[in-house]
Amino acid sequence: MSALFIFFGFFCSILAARILVHAQQGFITIDCGLDANTSYKDNLTGIEYVSDAAYIDTGENHNISSDYLPNAEAVQNMNLRSFSDSTRNCYTLKPVRQGNKYMIRAGFMYGNYDGKNRIPRFNIYIGVNLWDSFQFKSASKVYGTETMIVASADFISVCLVGIGDGAPFISSLELRLLGGLYNALNASNFFLKPVRYDLGSVTNRSIRYPYDDYDRMWTPDNRLPSKLSLLSLNTSSNISSSQNDGFQVPIRVMRTFVAPSNGSNINISWDMTPDPTIQQHIVLHLAEIQLLRSNESRIFDIFLNEKLWHGNFSPRYLQTDHIFTMESINQRSMIRISKAANSTLPPILNAIEVYQVKSFSELATDNGDVDAIADVKKTYHIEKNWISDPCSPRNYAWEGLGCSYNSSMSPRIVNLSLADYGLSGKIAASFAKLGALRYLNLANNSLSGEIPDALGELHFLQELDLSNNQLKGPVPTLLQIRSANQSLILRIGGNSGLCYGSNSCQSQRKLSVTIIIVIVVIAAAFLLMVAACMWKMRRKQAGSLKPQKEGHSRGHLKDKNDLFELKSRQFAFEDLVVITKSFQHAIGKGGFGIVYLGELQDGTQVAVKVNSQSSSQGINEFQAEGELLTRIHHKNLVSLVGYCEDGNYLALVYEYMAQGSLEDHLRGKSSTTRFLNWIQRLQIAIEAAQGLEYLHSGCKPPIIHRDVKPSNILLNHKGEAKISDFGVSRIFQNDQTHVSTAVVGTMGYLDPDYFFSCKLTEKSDVYSFGVVLLELITGLPAVLRNPDRGQLVHWILASGDINAVIDDRMQGEYDAYSVSKAAEIAMKCTLPTSIERPTMSEVVMQLKECLALELSSGTTQIHDTSEICTNCDDSVELSSSTTTTNRRQDDDSDLSSAGITTSHYQNESAVSQTAALLHQGCDPSKS
Ligand SMILES: *[C@@H]1O[C@H](CO)[C@@H](O)[C@H](O)[C@H]1NC(C)=O
Ligand SMILES: *[C@@H]1O[C@H](CO)[C@@H](O)[C@H](O)[C@H]1NC(C)=O
Ligand SMILES: *[C@@H]1O[C@H](CO)[C@@H](O)[C@H](O)[C@H]1NC(C)=O
Ligand SMILES: *[C@@H]1O[C@H](CO)[C@@H](O)[C@H](O)[C@H]1NC(C)=O
Ligand SMILES: *[C@@H]1O[C@H](CO)[C@@H](O)[C@H](O)[C@H]1NC(C)=O
Ligand SMILES: *[C@@H]1O[C@H](CO)[C@@H](O)[C@H](O)[C@H]1NC(C)=O
Repeated sequence: MSALFIFFGFFCSILAARILVHAQQGFITIDCGLDANTSYKDNLTGIEYVSDAAYIDTGENHNISSDYLPNAEAVQNMNLRSFSDSTRNCYTLKPVRQGNKYMIRAGFMYGNYDGKNRIPRFNIYIGVNLWDSFQFKSASKVYGTETMIVASADFISVCLVGIGDGAPFISSLELRLLGGLYNALNASNFFLKPVRYDLGSVTNRSIRYPYDDYDRMWTPDNRLPSKLSLLSLNTSSNISSSQNDGFQVPIRVMRTFVAPSNGSNINISWDMTPDPTIQQHIVLHLAEIQLLRSNESRIFDIFLNEKLWHGNFSPRYLQTDHIFTMESINQRSMIRISKAANSTLPPILNAIEVYQVKSFSELATDNGDVDAIADVKKTYHIEKNWISDPCSPRNYAWEGLGCSYNSSMSPRIVNLSLADYGLSGKIAASFAKLGALRYLNLANNSLSGEIPDALGELHFLQELDLSNNQLKGPVPTLLQIRSANQSLILRIGGNSGLCYGSNSCQSQRKLSVTIIIVIVVIAAAFLLMVAACMWKMRRKQAGSLKPQKEGHSRGHLKDKNDLFELKSRQFAFEDLVVITKSFQHAIGKGGFGIVYLGELQDGTQVAVKVNSQSSSQGINEFQAEGELLTRIHHKNLVSLVGYCEDGNYLALVYEYMAQGSLEDHLRGKSSTTRFLNWIQRLQIAIEAAQGLEYLHSGCKPPIIHRDVKPSNILLNHKGEAKISDFGVSRIFQNDQTHVSTAVVGTMGYLDPDYFFSCKLTEKSDVYSFGVVLLELITGLPAVLRNPDRGQLVHWILASGDINAVIDDRMQGEYDAYSVSKAAEIAMKCTLPTSIERPTMSEVVMQLKECLALELSSGTTQIHDTSEICTNCDDSVELSSSTTTTNRRQDDDSDLSSAGITTSHYQNESAVSQTAALLHQGCDPSKS
């Protein structure tokens, strides 16, 4: 190695005169130890050296002893920065661009700066990998080391690490952008310890910038370790190289070559310490600079370690050629260039480069973790030794951090302890982005505000200590769930404002004044009307309604069958953890809480709705939804797979509706990628209408949904629509009145008749459905964004012409008559007087007529109906010979095609439907 340790001779450049005009793009040139805010232009290269103050926070500046000034060769070697705390000190070189190639060179001259006359030993790292180890022999010499690397981030760190033998120091640091050079250099390796000789050099000085655009240093051959008797030649002609030449050797280097002065061989050899993790990249640069006569020839063979590498090579006149290879390292490598038998002239060589190519032994920390922890560092102004990579190299992980290491994967941060750090402000959201975290300790700080919900979604978190801060508000539900389940140790003592469990925080919630004003303004009218209705209803009810019969009470599970049915579908909390893979993948957030994707043991995908304590809807509604849904079975109603009631926590497990809500398809994330065509919209309308029809007329007493809107119409993997969200539904005990007192519903969909009659009936659902149908036709939201226009229904009535507002994303591909008939149905549904509106059964019938019209007109291609289906493999469904109407009506025939299992399914559904009939009074024949 010592043979490769090149004495660069920083001052030995031949270009005193040529001062540069253009700026050095992609250069960072630092004179370490220079006073802050000072800089100067180097007399030889014209490159500007700046102080290192902007690149490092640690260390002290020193001037070398005046005794050594004559040996300094250049200003940058006259001072240095040293680090008495020698553990690990890093320069952060930026800006650089991730993925670009850079050369980095560091210079060192001890010069007895500390008067101790003792040269320290230390190591230098590039990023997380060892770059070089130093044991300088002379205090009066300038030493250099170099590396080439692909930037793995938008900065490159260079770290000096002591080995317990004196304080590390550095005199200069230079970074150079390499552009497209060196194809062998890539993101998984780096080059170091270059051997780069300019053969036949006419001076004894290195060639560098500006003759080399990349400021590589080409050492003159008189410094070759093995001196040979060589003849040098030079030319002043121009030498060209190919356009995308990957080496860009300076012309000044190519203009000279060596040839053997006697004999017919050029021999060059060098030593290296064998290391299986290192390869060497050897490059020969060749160009003929003599114009040969017709009877002359220059042909030679090139041997590497006595094996033929390249035979019968003849250099081209004034054209650069490169011969390169990647070889494993021998103790001694040797190149022999031999004259061929039919050559009249001896062999030549213009320049040679050898690099050690090392694979990264240490991987840099996971990028996501780096970003998150960098944000934590910035948010709380953490100084400490938090520089360079958080986890690598392993022995220099940041203080307070624990990392997991795995040879093939980037290290992850798994432990983070910032207890007693004096942190203040809110708990940063970036903590929750440390996805592999197992242990987080923020105890004994002054953190305030609420605990972010996202902390509950750190799946691997086993211990969370937030004690003795000033936190307030509710503890996120998921944290509570996991704590109760003992999958997480949660410490929150010493925070007086926190509420946990049934201890509700609602009253302690602080709303900003602006939000309160906005809410008041928006909701005032609505709430006033509702309040008036409630008051009116109460009085009416008190007078006319009989108390509910005990036997009809749905509040508790009293019936034996009830209990049995629920138990068979009941999940324990642990089951949910397994089903959802520890609540890994959240797919939505509803009024009740977060919805997670899960998978049952048989592979069936399910949606798991977890009740969150902080949700606006209460636990009673949640239970109501669960109990109600277990009794209802219809192909156009989202079915409940199971139910979890474990301690204080409740969850519902639904069939998974892979394609999300109609809302998404009309306006959300799915709407930009694909548009529903008219046939798809009609089918969705028919299916949703059938679901409602079942609730209204298949169940006795009828069930009123009360919150029909596109976000409550979900599509399964086949694109079939089902009605969801029964949490707000209630069954009315009294057949005659169909009255409800609790107002729910959504602005834009709420029956206007309700404000006069104070009754929600099936016709209220019909109204809401009419609004949904208008949205399907127009693609517009129920409450228009333009404040002047108000509700969609009113606006369409006022505009008078439905044709003018048909969703233009359908690109005219529909039968005009079919659309206007649908519009007519929608307008009937949204009539202000509820008695005038059709029933859902009538709506279903008329919509089917619309579909028939559309299909017979043939404006839309049938195969388009499968378009919203993204990743399902139901080839039968897509068969173009099956018309859509048939497919939809013959749902049961799908089952018979599935073979012998049919009867099993039919029996099972018959059983559950009978059970449903018993409890709920829904007619299975209608489902
Ligand atoms: C360097 O300059 C910056 C602003 O240009 C100034 O804030 C800083 O104090 C200066 N540092 C020194 C050591 O002069
Ligand atoms: C650079 O050259 C100028 C004039 O030739 C001289 O005054 C100055 O001291 C030189 N600077 C260095 C750093 O050698
Ligand atoms: C080094 O010497 C220069 C003058 O040559 C002086 O300006 C600078 O402050 C000195 N630096 C230190 C760290 O003593
Ligand atoms: C990087 O280059 C090395 C040769 O030095 C090669 O073996 C490796 O496959 C390359 N890696 C990538 C990711 O291109
Ligand atoms: C290097 O060049 C200088 C003058 O340019 C000369 O004095 C010295 O002898 C040369 N050294 C060698 C080793 O050629
Ligand atoms: C020299 O000899 C080699 C075979 O040894 C042959 O391939 C090559 O063409 C010859 N070159 C000339 C210029 O005769």
